[in-house]
Amino acid sequence: MTLQELKSAFVSAYGKEADAVYFAPGRVNLIGEHTDYNGGSVFPCALSFGTYLLLRKNGGNSIKFRSLNQTEVIELGFDKLSTPLNKTWVNYPLGVFAQFIKRGIEIKDGYDILIWGDVPNGAGLSSSAALEVVTAYALNDQLGTNFNRTILAQIGQKAEHEFAFVNCGIMDQFASANGAKDSAIHLNCDTLQFELVPVKLKGVKILISNTHSPHKLDSGAYNQRVAECQLAVKQLNTVRPIKYLAELTEAEFKNIESVITDVTAHKRARHVVGEVQRTKDAVIALKAGDLTLFGKLMNASHVSLRDDYEVTGPELDCMASEAWKIDGVIGSRMTGGGFGGCTVSLVKEEAIDTFIKEVGTAYQTKIGIKPEFYIAEIGDGACKLA
Ligand code: GLA
Repeated sequence: MTLQELKSAFVSAYGKEADAVYFAPGRVNLIGEHTDYNGGSVFPCALSFGTYLLLRKNGGNSIKFRSLNQTEVIELGFDKLSTPLNKTWVNYPLGVFAQFIKRGIEIKDGYDILIWGDVPNGAGLSSSAALEVVTAYALNDQLGTNFNRTILAQIGQKAEHEFAFVNCGIMDQFASANGAKDSAIHLNCDTLQFELVPVKLKGVKILISNTHSPHKLDSGAYNQRVAECQLAVKQLNTVRPIKYLAELTEAEFKNIESVITDVTAHKRARHVVGEVQRTKDAVIALKAGDLTLFGKLMNASHVSLRDDYEVTGPELDCMASEAWKIDGVIGSRMTGGGFGGCTVSLVKEEAIDTFIKEVGTAYQTKIGIKPEFYIAEIGDGACKLA
């Protein structure tokens, strides 16, 4: 939808022009999966698609939430902004209002809000983080709160914890807030320091393959992984005082891993420690222009997420292993939380058509679902468009 179309949709919905239009992107993570809540680093990029938010002050005492992607319209008085509702998309923007209120900020104006997003829902490309961050960005602007982008990301993350009940890390909201065109974000999730690394791929594209098997982040499996990592830390603490698994090098982990008596927690920890190292190596490889090494690390990341972290499943495994067979594929792995969603692949330009045809056919034959493919454009973080 164009900006003009969005503005017209606002007029159709509310009968008056919008005061402002904001945007926040989805993200694709190149490598560093399930490391963020373990104090490790991640390497995501913001995408050119994302979530748009249009609003106007309505002169009343309520917030009206409406989305072109959803049927449900909800209007809430100021006294209803701090409590999650029962299973609705509105919990994402509402959770952000609640975080502003928690920080002592008073909502004095009513707003009419219209949302539209082009991040495929449930694809693991952070449609929910984009919605949280665009709301945080818009409120920050409207209320003059001057929070920096990192705080806006943290507000989004807290909204996810308290209103969607997913104990996520900071990666998705951070990428949506701080993304930069044609760069990946090397973020240390412990210190929140980050570096933008130019993504110069010379003849290679980032291809996203959507399994169309929705990722089930709210299914509890994500929170279970978080808890398993905490158990590993607790058992490791009997011999070494660490706060996060990411503090251990692979060699240090090998020396003490036997104290993790819980077999599952041990596997989860092994993934995290290995993934942290792979992410460091991948950043160095990208800076050196060594895409071959980068691709190998992506493949190894998928294998570890499949065997040790157990967050892939048949759809993602099929998509990745079919990709590995194609000439011109430099690397391919699941991206995001897992349990469905998308893979991300580095593919030579001349192999893109073959990839889409062959991987698409094999996936559809084996899994029985028609997949979808997008060439990723790396875009900027949240902004005000008008
Ligand atoms: C989801 C979470 C992120 C991160 C990834 C896995 O996208 O929201 O915080 O943990 O899964 O890397």
